[in-house]
Amino acid sequence: MKFFVDTADVAEIQDLAATGLVDGVTTNPSLAAKTGRNFVDVVAEICAIVPGPVSAEVVATEYEAMLRQGRALRKIADNVTIKLPLTPDGLRACKTLSDEGTMVNVTLCFSAAQAILAAKAGASFISPFVGRLDDIGQDGMDLIGDIVAIYSNYPAFTTEVLVASIRHPIHVVEAGRLGADVVTLPPKVLRQLYGHPLTDKGLAAFLADWEKTGQTIPEE
Ligand code: E4P
Repeated sequence: MKFFVDTADVAEIQDLAATGLVDGVTTNPSLAAKTGRNFVDVVAEICAIVPGPVSAEVVATEYEAMLRQGRALRKIADNVTIKLPLTPDGLRACKTLSDEGTMVNVTLCFSAAQAILAAKAGASFISPFVGRLDDIGQDGMDLIGDIVAIYSNYPAFTTEVLVASIRHPIHVVEAGRLGADVVTLPPKVLRQLYGHPLTDKGLAAFLADWEKTGQTIPEE
């Protein structure tokens, strides 16, 4: 399972990349707006920190303009992945850019039918938004199960299932159980994955017992 981080905050990415667990980054226009910085500069900095795919989303909605923005964004660095919305124009642009050898992440996916279209359009990644489905009373993880099952029926589909809109660690565990390729994690959720009260309690007991020995372990 690959871990992407879902933020445009360069300091957060720097900090999380140091864990050695970060395989890529996803941004979106809302996350980019939060930084208050120039988007191209931000993407360039992220690409220099994380060598894996870094998603940068177009904000055009019409095919030709999407292509112009996608072609400009991909010049930022070799690992830029162009993020396109799941619309007829977005999928058309996905096919064109994918045929040119550009990685494309198709975003705002809320149905298995949409995911089939993205795979046929040659997307490198499909981003189903599980949290936003949960928010409207549908189980977002059911969609992940459906997409993983459908894609596995067709070896010619090379699109990776990138679970997006993750809200908590259970989404990550479920994504793993279902065999999703990638999870994109808000920094808070990545940090939550480490935690368990029995780990803290166990470590405190081990250290307290060790302290009683009065010994030290040599360090190189
Ligand atoms: C990632 O690619 C998506 O843009 C992101 O996960 C959306 O998350 P949200 O539903 O929490 O905004």
